[in-house]
Amino acid sequence: MKEYSDKAAPIGVFDSGYGGLTILEQLRKELPGHDFIYLGDNARAPYGSRSFETVYHFTLEAVERLFDMGCRLVILACNTASAKALRTIQQHDLPQIDPSRRVLGVIRPTVEKVVSLSKTAHVGVFGTTGTIQSESYPMELHKLAPELVVTGQACPMWVPLVENMEANAPGADYFVKKYIDALLSADPLIDTIILGCTHYPLLMPKIRRFLPEGIRLVPQGEIVAASLRDYLRRHPEMEEGISKNGTCRFYTTESEAKFLEYGSMFLGEDIQVERIQLKGKGV
Ligand code: DGL
Repeated sequence: MKEYSDKAAPIGVFDSGYGGLTILEQLRKELPGHDFIYLGDNARAPYGSRSFETVYHFTLEAVERLFDMGCRLVILACNTASAKALRTIQQHDLPQIDPSRRVLGVIRPTVEKVVSLSKTAHVGVFGTTGTIQSESYPMELHKLAPELVVTGQACPMWVPLVENMEANAPGADYFVKKYIDALLSADPLIDTIILGCTHYPLLMPKIRRFLPEGIRLVPQGEIVAASLRDYLRRHPEMEEGISKNGTCRFYTTESEAKFLEYGSMFLGEDIQVERIQLKGKGV
C-alpha cells in the first residue's frame, strides 16, 4: 500500500478529454470554495470505442496520478470510464491502493435523478459505443424502476466532433440528426433522453435543434454536482480532507496550447494548464 500525504487536497476530476469540463463547471458552481484538479487524457481520447481492459488501465493510471497529486476523492467525469472501470477500481484497486480514498462516477447519480422524470416510462440514452454496449444505464435504471423501457443509441462520431472543435460546425448537423433519428425510430415513445456522455452538452445547441419538441434532454453536470454536495454532507471525514481556496488546476496529456484555447473558451475564463504523461501501460 502506498503512503500518501494526509494534507487537505483538491477534488480530482478526470475525463478522457474535454467532456469532463461540462461536469467540472457545475461542480465549481455548486462548491465554489473547494479546490479542484482537472485531468484530461486528450492524447488518448476518445475512450468510447476502446476495449474494457484499455479503458480500465487508462482510467486507473489517471486515478493513481490524481492520488499522487494528493487527491483523496476522484470523480470520473466520464461515462465510458464509469461504465467500464469504476466498479473494478472501487472493488479491486482501492482496497490495495488506499481504502480511505474514494472514486465516484457519473452514472449512478444520473440514474437516480432520471427514474422519476419520464411520463411515458420510455427513456433513451445517448452514449459512446462503450457505454451503450456495457448496458450500464439499463441495468442501473432497472434496479430502481424495472418497468422503464430503456433504449440506448451509440453516437461514435459525437466525441470526435467535440475533441476536434467541430461541435458547432455545419458539418456536425448530419451526425447529430442521424443518431437522434435512429433512437426515435427505435422507440417513438421516448420522452426523456439521458446525455450519457460528458462531451455531449458541448453539442447541445445542435441536439436541441434536431430533437422534436416535448422530449426532455438530461445533461449530467448539475445532477452530478448536487449528488457530490450531498455525498460530502454525508461524509464529513472526506469533506474535511478537501482544501478550500476556490482554485482549479488543469492537466492534459496532449498539447497545452490546444487545451488552453478550448478550456478557456468553454469555461469563459483564462486557465493555466500543464502537460503530463501517463504511463501508457494500457496501450
Ligand atoms: N466523455 C466521456 C464519456 O462521458 C468519454 C468520451 C470518449 O472519450 O469517448 O463517455
